[in-house]
Amino acid sequence: MTVVVTGATGRTGGRVASAARAAGLTVRAASRATGFDWRDRSTWAETLRGAEAAYLAFPTDVGSPEATRAVGEISREAVSLGVRRLVLLSARGEERARPTEDALRESGADWTIVQASWFSQNFSEGPLVEELRLSGGLVFPAAEGVREPFIDVRDIADVVVAALTSGDRYVRREIDVTGPRLVAWGEAVAEIAAATGRELAYRAVPTREYREHLVGFGVPGEEADFLVELFEELLDGHNAQLTDGVRQVLGREPRDFAEFAKEAAAAGTWG
Ligand SMILES: NC(=O)c1ccc[n+]([C@@H]2O[C@H](COP(=O)([O-])OP(=O)(O)OC[C@H]3O[C@@H](n4cnc5c(N)ncnc54)[C@H](OP(=O)(O)O)[C@@H]3O)[C@@H](O)[C@H]2O)c1
Repeated sequence: MTVVVTGATGRTGGRVASAARAAGLTVRAASRATGFDWRDRSTWAETLRGAEAAYLAFPTDVGSPEATRAVGEISREAVSLGVRRLVLLSARGEERARPTEDALRESGADWTIVQASWFSQNFSEGPLVEELRLSGGLVFPAAEGVREPFIDVRDIADVVVAALTSGDRYVRREIDVTGPRLVAWGEAVAEIAAATGRELAYRAVPTREYREHLVGFGVPGEEADFLVELFEELLDGHNAQLTDGVRQVLGREPRDFAEFAKEAAAAGTWG
């Protein structure tokens, strides 16, 4: 099977590509470096043609109106080119992602939707890592009591590949995946501090204050507005539940945040 992996240079796509190769699939990596652009339809057919499956990870956020439009269009185009097996990365407990999921469901594809909790790797790859490295702590709009079942992106990748290689078993199914433990943001930072041997402080701030913080870090105003609204929706505690999605699909427990923190610290991620 040839699978197109979008976001192949990103956090999940990179791992999906590796796991797919390890499972014997042929991977066609897709990102702007390979000439594939989510924002330019004319680049899609060449990437998709001749493949059997695709992993769809829309950049920035699956819950944006842009994502809904692009996922709907690319899914219909994929089906018309014979690329029927589509796996979408979506977000758990994010209501604004539902229209994007619906656009995939309505495309005629053999779809699977993987609804993931917050990634452990948000702390090690992406904007938060610089802040942890340089400022000696983290400011974030998650109150002390709010806990999240952080998931390791390697588990997401393994679930995606299992879905692709299990025949029809996960076709027309949503798979809700979380890590094995609820962890508050402050606890996550404390676990990273313990793993690195550095002192790191966590400070919870109201989302409006966080907007100014983001702008101070150079995030454009419009993007900061989107993120603040998203965080207001996601960080109210409603996602503080574990699921057994990883165990159901892989027959093993998901990786724990502490394991992630130890490995990333040993790799020198936080200096
Ligand atoms: N972070 C979380 O905790 C979380 C949780 C659940 C779901 N999600 C969802 O995860 C998705 C993001 O996936 P990710 O975190 O694996 O990605 P990521 O690490 O943010 O990387 C983005 C990838 O997309 C590519 N890309 C960026 N702009 C592009 C464009 N215009 N056309 C083609 N490719 C482009 C990038 O490569 P190039 O720059 O080389 O093009 C890169 O490979 C979002 O939809 C988000 O809603 C995130």
